[in-house]
Amino acid sequence: MQPNVTVVILAAGLGTRMKSRRAKVLHRAGGKTLLQHVIDTALVLTPPERIYVVVGHQADEVRRSVTTPGIGFIEQKEQKGTGHAVMIGREALSGLDGYLMVLYGDSPLLRAQTLQCLIEQATAGDAAGVLLSALMDDPTGYGRVIRDHRGYVREIVEQKAGSPEQLAIREANMGIYCFRADLFWKHVDEIRPDNPAKEYYLTDMPAILTRAGHAVEAMRIDDPNEALGINDRAQLAEVDALFRNRKRRELMMNGVTLVQPETITVDAAVEIGPDTVIEPFALILGNTKIGSDCSVGSYCIVQDSVLEDEVSVRPFSLINTSRVGRKAEIGPYARLRMENDVEAGAHVGNFVELKKTRLGAGSKANHLAYLGDSTIGAKCNIGAGTITCNYDGTAKHPTRIADGVFVGSNSTLVAPLEIAEGAYTAAGSVITDNVPADALALGRARQVIREGWAKKRRELGKK
Ligand code: UD1
Ligand code: CA
Repeated sequence: MQPNVTVVILAAGLGTRMKSRRAKVLHRAGGKTLLQHVIDTALVLTPPERIYVVVGHQADEVRRSVTTPGIGFIEQKEQKGTGHAVMIGREALSGLDGYLMVLYGDSPLLRAQTLQCLIEQATAGDAAGVLLSALMDDPTGYGRVIRDHRGYVREIVEQKAGSPEQLAIREANMGIYCFRADLFWKHVDEIRPDNPAKEYYLTDMPAILTRAGHAVEAMRIDDPNEALGINDRAQLAEVDALFRNRKRRELMMNGVTLVQPETITVDAAVEIGPDTVIEPFALILGNTKIGSDCSVGSYCIVQDSVLEDEVSVRPFSLINTSRVGRKAEIGPYARLRMENDVEAGAHVGNFVELKKTRLGAGSKANHLAYLGDSTIGAKCNIGAGTITCNYDGTAKHPTRIADGVFVGSNSTLVAPLEIAEGAYTAAGSVITDNVPADALALGRARQVIREGWAKKRRELGKK
């Protein structure tokens, strides 16, 4: 039976080597913050009510960045070491039974499966705790795992405190632990800041528990990179590439065609249905859902949007926080700026911008238009050059166009405005008043013909 596990994620540090004003755990890889990666991994093991994040630097921003409801936060105002970071959570944590697992917010590569093994090892024997370790070619900077003759962990020695003999040990502490909660809280106060940095080291716990007559074990992982903590932007880029690769592979395994996959960027939370084709250099970001049998052309950016089945998005289109219905066609060079709803079978062509607009089923706006704050019915034709004048310099106004309306090319629709069912507007019109159903609205100067005018002008020029 899976025991109760409480996960504490240490995320109070600034991360100096990022050279950033933003806390390290807020930086993103694979479209998610480093911290959210760790939280999502923890969620595989335990419910959100048992996950706590220790925040310090930019505590509010870090708190706000977490998208999972139910997660607890502990504020560490001063960073006095990894031990201190857990100790200050006593009030919230010490009453929780089972096991206490400590993770770092800057180690996004750690797999849930590995942590599951750590829990299993912790529960199988009678150890007071198990830590994650790895044999490293160059363990410089890491704490070293000192084992006794039976293989139990006697102590962890930090780089700065190690003797040459101890530093020659290649087994490094990954900084990830699973303790028996009762024993941890019973002994945690024995951690003393008796080191040059005057910090409370969590790594003192193995020695403390051993002294109290308990056993501490180490579980070796094969690849120390799995526990790699991101320290600088170069490592961030490497990890980002790794997540992107993983995501692309997952999509391809699920039946999505990625053409020249290495050029395509897909965020972690994106879902794409089978037989959809994504062309080179497309970016699919945020919480986007794309159905099956769709195509997304080169250089498109689709963010936080929903594309239903069989949607075709041609190259160089931008789609943001919008929904696109079945069999709709978008682009090339279209911009669905925000909160649009393009219904089934509608067409949005080149150099057409939509903002907070609903374009009804089967309606077409094929070239050069701005449609903002508008509701457009089904089977309308919006001519080239149509502009909804939705802004008067102070406020935004709506345009309502009913079903089957034909808006002539280069119409200027001055909002607030309503055009009723089946009406026409003449090309080049400035429409300022509502148009009744089935009417024609003309809003332009009459054409004048001056016979022979051009000829006369040419003759005058010759003299
Ligand atoms: C720690 C371990 C070391 C191990 C290494 C693995 C200690 C004393 N040493 O060293 O044995 O090999 O991890 O990466 O634990 N943090 C807080 N509050 C604090 C201090 C740290 O939240 O007061 C957070 C940091 O933001 C960071 C994590 O804890 O994410 C690790 O702290 P860091 O100071 O980087 O420990 P290391 O020196 O790497
Ligand atoms: Ca570190």
